[in-house]
Amino acid sequence: MSTATPNAPLVRVCLVRPHLEALPDFALPAGFDLRPYQPGDRDRWVGIVHAADPFLPISVATHEAAFGQDAKSLAERQQFLVAPDRQLIGTATAWHGEGGRWQGWGRVHWLAVVPAWQGKGLGKALLGATLRRLRELGYTRAYLITESVRFAAIRLYLQFGFAPDLTQVADRAAWRDLRNRGVPVQIPADDTTEPS
Ligand SMILES: CC(C)(COP(=O)(O)OP(=O)(O)OC[C@H]1O[C@@H](n2cnc3c(N)ncnc32)[C@H](O)[C@@H]1OP(=O)(O)O)[C@@H](O)C(=O)NCCC(=O)NCCS
Repeated sequence: MSTATPNAPLVRVCLVRPHLEALPDFALPAGFDLRPYQPGDRDRWVGIVHAADPFLPISVATHEAAFGQDAKSLAERQQFLVAPDRQLIGTATAWHGEGGRWQGWGRVHWLAVVPAWQGKGLGKALLGATLRRLRELGYTRAYLITESVRFAAIRLYLQFGFAPDLTQVADRAAWRDLRNRGVPVQIPADDTTEPS
């Protein structure tokens, strides 16, 4: 499912998981696998992300800008979901915080499942594997940045114990808007009597 639309205003929201304990354990359905990045996968990554969100301008340069050129690091951190027919149908990366406030945090980066395979529990399995990989890499907490139009992804992250990051005042309004649209989010210390 692509949740973004061409003209929707994109509001960035950030979610945090302050620990990586008690991770939900969703197994891959039978016949599916995960495999790590291999040289030559950049185009495959572009194909998956483009299929999952055709409105995003995505290219090999996007991959390079996000993940650099270090094949060893990519092999450790980037995973692909393999369908029973061996096609690659999803991806997610157990990345690292980009400095500043996020120094030392793990980052869930560019999670996507191609539309034909969505809604089958694969996103849950992929996100669980990504968080476990972060933990294996030594991280104790994780964050991610997404857009408020991505309801499916946000629901998934909330199910996995991520919570809204409310560091910026504007974030609270974005989360209230999501709650008003039916996203089951708890907004800490929120005054629900205020207009959203
Ligand atoms: C987010 C995404 C990876 C989920 O993948 P998926 O394989 O469909 O996910 P699952 O089938 O495992 O579903 C996991 C949860 O996602 C949420 N979800 C999935 N499809 C949904 C939909 N159509 N509407 C609302 N929530 C939905 C639900 O919380 C669901 O859990 P539930 O089945 O217990 O209700 C997929 O929708 C996708 O690639 N979206 C486009 C790209 C994107 O937005 N990526 C995130 C960038 S931060």
